[in-house]
Amino acid sequence: MNRQLAKRYLFAISLSITILLNVSCKQAEPKNDIESRVNKLLSEMTLDEKIGQMSQIDPGYLSDEQIKQAVREGKYGSFLNVSGVEKINALQKTALEESRLKIPLIIGRDVIHGYRTIFPIPLGMASTWNPEIVKRAFRISSIEASSQGIKWTFAPMIDITWDPRWGRIAESCGEDPYLASVLAKAMVQGIQGENLTDPTALAACAKHFVGYGFAEGGRDYSTTYISEPILRNVVLKPFEAAKDAGALTFMSAFNDLNGVPTSGNEFTLRQILRNEWNYKGMVVSDWASVTEMIAHGYCADEKEAALKAIKAGVDMEMSSTSYMNHIKSLVEEGQLDMKMIDEAVKNILRLKIKLGLFENPYVDPEAEKQLLSPEFMEHARKVARQSAVLLKNEQNTLPLSTNITSVAVIGPLADAPRDQLGTWVFDGKAENSVTPLTAIQDLLGKTKVNFAAGLKYSRDKSKAGFAEAIAAAKKSQAILFFAGEEWILSGEGQSRGEITIPGAQEELMEELKKTGKPLIVIVMAGRPLAIGNTVEKSDALLYAFHGGSMAGPALADLIFGKESPSGKLPVTFVKGSGQIPFYYYHNNTGRPASAESWTPIDSIPIENSQASLGYRSFHLDYGFTPLFPFGYGLSYTTFQYSNLILSSNEITSDGKLTVKASVFNNGNVDADEIVQLYIRDRVGSITRPVKELKGFQRIHLKSRETVGVTFELPASALEFFNGKENVIESGKFDLWVGPNSSEGLHTEFSIK
Ligand code: NOJ
Repeated sequence: MNRQLAKRYLFAISLSITILLNVSCKQAEPKNDIESRVNKLLSEMTLDEKIGQMSQIDPGYLSDEQIKQAVREGKYGSFLNVSGVEKINALQKTALEESRLKIPLIIGRDVIHGYRTIFPIPLGMASTWNPEIVKRAFRISSIEASSQGIKWTFAPMIDITWDPRWGRIAESCGEDPYLASVLAKAMVQGIQGENLTDPTALAACAKHFVGYGFAEGGRDYSTTYISEPILRNVVLKPFEAAKDAGALTFMSAFNDLNGVPTSGNEFTLRQILRNEWNYKGMVVSDWASVTEMIAHGYCADEKEAALKAIKAGVDMEMSSTSYMNHIKSLVEEGQLDMKMIDEAVKNILRLKIKLGLFENPYVDPEAEKQLLSPEFMEHARKVARQSAVLLKNEQNTLPLSTNITSVAVIGPLADAPRDQLGTWVFDGKAENSVTPLTAIQDLLGKTKVNFAAGLKYSRDKSKAGFAEAIAAAKKSQAILFFAGEEWILSGEGQSRGEITIPGAQEELMEELKKTGKPLIVIVMAGRPLAIGNTVEKSDALLYAFHGGSMAGPALADLIFGKESPSGKLPVTFVKGSGQIPFYYYHNNTGRPASAESWTPIDSIPIENSQASLGYRSFHLDYGFTPLFPFGYGLSYTTFQYSNLILSSNEITSDGKLTVKASVFNNGNVDADEIVQLYIRDRVGSITRPVKELKGFQRIHLKSRETVGVTFELPASALEFFNGKENVIESGKFDLWVGPNSSEGLHTEFSIK
């Protein structure tokens, strides 16, 4: 054994002993004990040490010795983007053994949709409408990340967005406040686990608080203007759910909300989060979002930025150093009350105590053996399978038989191991991806698969590979075309003005279509693309988002019928960028459109008189319907809905409704269906959405089976903010139970 190895071995043994000792005496700590520990520690801290706890940096630009020295001096309470068991254990050792107060560090990282085992992008996970499997995915992410010393992930990202141009739609749960709230809860529970002192528990971070997904024009970091009813009825909902689920931390955002940047926004951070919601957790800024308030034109300099952020309630500053540079003088000059600093530090210390970091700051070096365990990868395959949405299937083109004698696998995403992982992947590795090409070759045998990518990458405009792709198609029974976007076209800072399928992909599909072979398109992308042209050309279309490490096998499972597709859209698919924003829960307007009122642009007679165009709310070119509605998704079978029954036609504002319906699987395959419940509040003290999702259930139905579903709808679920207060208003409501936001059985009820 060489010296290096011996050292590591001894360190591992001593850590394992520490860990064992800690595990054996681990117990949930009573609340008062936490408070008395926090207070005691606080009373021993100097102002510099307090400021240190409030500062988080990415130490990438410091040498190892500089980092250690900073830790000894208590200059930082947290680091982000440090990884590696040995490195983190060594830093914690320095903090615990060489710093004056022996306060452990908390190491944060963006573990957004998996650590090493990568799950579909969050928008894909949202398409599963399955909180249970999403929770498990986040649990697995925490198990893997914690094995590397990470104790805090900057997830879940629960920004509601109506804009597919915005690159970060990939990280979101889509447009709906109810679906996003259910998933936010599942994600927080998965991340934090059942016991916060468990070595695999991470602190969750509900981000970005708040309104970031409403960036004007979909340009990242842009200004947001959000009315208070939309803020409270839509945007804040998933955050409240994350808070209720116990999210230990929140992150303020980059955006300027109605004129006040969210990292200095007393209305959202102090009034809503702290005072109204009574949130007791910790708030971190987004990366340099404190000092970016200078560029926003809200603060003259770093000192004012620090002052405004602390006053608003940002406990820890990420990356920029205005706290470190200015808190001391702000306190000494009497501009900042020491009480505010103490509150912030207490929030940070409480977090570290709750996570058991004082007792057990080290990682067991053995824990990393679990990375990429077969169970984790199998779960990634399951989530990817349930996240794919079947949008078209003419004449049951899909599924293909595994007895097919030849299939063409074409397209820039067919064998793109990094692209299928999607955005925000720091620790997943392309070499661990199983691509569609590999999975299909494994399933059918290499000789039956005629592969020719046709295009080297999604934006490729060269036609050099077309001939080979067409030849592959000609000698095959069916074409599988893997279209989409490279991973780098979505995510932070990666917004697009046009959301079409890039490069020469459409042209290549056009050529392939001419072969007369069934054209099956699988779209792997970071956002809902405007795929109208592709839909028209294709015989079948499966929308798979970026499906993660196991996207290939999951898609092969669906294409070859091992399982029926069951995902449903978590976001409205628009016909083109000009239709944005288009979300299903819009208000009705005074002039709602109808099929009769719309004259398509090409049908307008030359010099038509003005009045006959309808004067209704639509676009002459797009009409008034989306390409695909929210909640939409087909299956290899069809479902029939019947027997919609309410427990009563009238309830009181403290009552509840029981809603029952039956679903029949009218086909030859077993499959899952996602049954959705929508309501409409017909008349309100402010105008109300035409539909709102209030419940959903994923059910499994055997071929020809009928399954009954029951929803409980308390009147409290109909509460909304009317600009002045939260109200449940009496009156008539519509109610639908169906397969998506534009179809379903209908009935009515009233609130007395
Ligand atoms: C900026 C991003 O907006 C945020 O989501 C992320 O957690 C931080 N950077 C840290 O990487």
